[in-house]
Amino acid sequence: MSGKVASENIPGRHGLNPSADAFTLARATRNELETRSLGNDLAVMLGPGDVVALIGDLGSGKTVLVRGICAAFGCAEQVTSPSFTLINEYAGTVKIMHCDLYRLTATDQLSAIGFNDLFSDDCVVLIEWAERAGPLLPYPRYEIVCEHGDSRDERVFRAAFVESRSDSILPAT
Ligand SMILES: Nc1ncnc2c1ncn2[C@@H]1O[C@H](COP(=O)(O)OP(=O)(O)OP(=O)(O)O)[C@@H](O)[C@H]1O
Ligand SMILES: [Mg+2]
Repeated sequence: MSGKVASENIPGRHGLNPSADAFTLARATRNELETRSLGNDLAVMLGPGDVVALIGDLGSGKTVLVRGICAAFGCAEQVTSPSFTLINEYAGTVKIMHCDLYRLTATDQLSAIGFNDLFSDDCVVLIEWAERAGPLLPYPRYEIVCEHGDSRDERVFRAAFVESRSDSILPAT
């Protein structure tokens, strides 16, 4: 991704870090198909070893975006929200690990589900409700904020490549 985009609507929302004021990409979508297409586009910059933290409310389009990313790696049809297992593995042209931490109640559960062992040079890791992993989320990583837009089916996505704590949009932990 290239070029910086101001994140004028972000400060303060979801308790995110207001000092992280620039995103590399911002895009609004009007329907699910456009979000899948965006995911497909974002996948171009992803490869083994990459981590994507997805942050946003219920229904904001995180899983749809994941499906789009997975489509680019040939494994979209397997994608469901890993609500009970918390982690799903998909075999595409690249191995994809898909986590959903919504049901996580304490960060010490993460080691029990194998979260720390997820990150390796041989897979792409996509994490919904990533903020719940707090300091266990590794750098560098992509952070993607997903939000409801003004109309029912509008969603707004903002993405940044984050190399260290100071660039993160997540609240300090
Ligand atoms: N522009 C859009 N992009 C993505 N999804 C959309 C859009 N417009 C409507 N939708 C609908 O919104 C819902 C998004 O659901 P999705 O499961 O992706 O959300 P989520 O952020 O993963 O939620 P959760 O936190 O519950 O996992 C779907 O039902 C989808 O059809
Ligand atoms: Mg989801």
